[in-house]
Amino acid sequence: MEWLPIARETEIGSRPLAVTAGGVPLVAFRPTPEADPVVFPDRCPHRLVPLSAATAEDGRLRCAYHGWEFDAAGTCVTLPSQEGSPPPRASLTPLPRVRVNDGLVYVDASALPPSDPTDLLTNEDPALRRAWHPVGLVSERPEEVQLLGETFRVSESRTQERWGMVWLAPEEPRIGLFPDPDPDDRDYTGAWLPPARTPASAGLVSDNFLDVAHFPFVHAKTFGAAEEKLVDRYEVTGEPWGCRSVQDQWFDNPEDPGVIAGLRPVRQRRRATYVYRAPFQLMLRLEELDAGAVKTILFFAQPESNASTRIYTKMLFHGVGGVPVPPAEVIERECAFEEAVLAEDLELQRKLRITGMPLRMRDELHVRADLLGVHLRRVLAEFRTAA
Ligand code: FES
Ligand SMILES: [Fe+2]
Repeated sequence: MEWLPIARETEIGSRPLAVTAGGVPLVAFRPTPEADPVVFPDRCPHRLVPLSAATAEDGRLRCAYHGWEFDAAGTCVTLPSQEGSPPPRASLTPLPRVRVNDGLVYVDASALPPSDPTDLLTNEDPALRRAWHPVGLVSERPEEVQLLGETFRVSESRTQERWGMVWLAPEEPRIGLFPDPDPDDRDYTGAWLPPARTPASAGLVSDNFLDVAHFPFVHAKTFGAAEEKLVDRYEVTGEPWGCRSVQDQWFDNPEDPGVIAGLRPVRQRRRATYVYRAPFQLMLRLEELDAGAVKTILFFAQPESNASTRIYTKMLFHGVGGVPVPPAEVIERECAFEEAVLAEDLELQRKLRITGMPLRMRDELHVRADLLGVHLRRVLAEFRTAA
């Protein structure tokens, strides 16, 4: 047995501390101020988010992404998106053995958890050459752009314009661009959010967009606090190189003029339609079934390099505030709100450590709420194999 030092005893308190042993990322904390240190793998089994970014409460760690909770023994005791006990595979057991000696904390090197998976779809995967990618807004007049770890001159490349964006395909694309969404959307009032950058890979960014279980945890400061933690069963229909899911949800709509006038209850129905097209084209259409407003979010990711993804978000509005064409200040307010929501996702993405999307199903733990994410992974795995 070989014991490796990970930290001084005094460095470990009740807040999670990221450490390493033999190159393996670990997280150490004390369940109570007087308790011996406990060491976990620094990786949530669900989406591999570092648990050093978790919140400690009542001797448990709560993962930052979907709120799974792990007790001091590493057992997953709460999995908020579904009812019933979490499956045993959601637990972190067996935990690395820990010893405290002479003010130093050691772990048993012979029983360390496996390192992070390496079979990942990164932003520089050669398979991505055979696809259309957004490389800038038309209004930016992009000339030289970063894509898949290379620099491309737009004037010398295969390009097209769509949705007010310039698209570039380094090689013969395998898949076309998104079809136009619902024909109605063409008449909707549109507005771009300022393009944003994230260090997370375009695959993980897309997964984040399709994820329906993270709202109460990642978006608590904007809309998430009132969201239901349980995710109702939903279905996903496969489409060529993509998928679609229509989900009816309940939500609070305090800004609906009908609510303010006392005509409707604040708890209302909403239909969310998610559409995905490989590799990184996404759309979410939110129809407020009682109030009549429709908000469509077009979301596209540009895999610039292994260290950077650029995100383009376009909003399309209809009927917001009870009028077909919402006034400029309403659009501005809606976009500012969506930017705040995106900022919460970017903050979460900055905590991610893995450099691409795991494409082997067994490297993560998928639960019922992850059906869209599972489809995304299947489509991307097929896309890569076909290359
Ligand atoms: S709860 Fe940890 S990644 Fe989902
Ligand atoms: Fe989000």
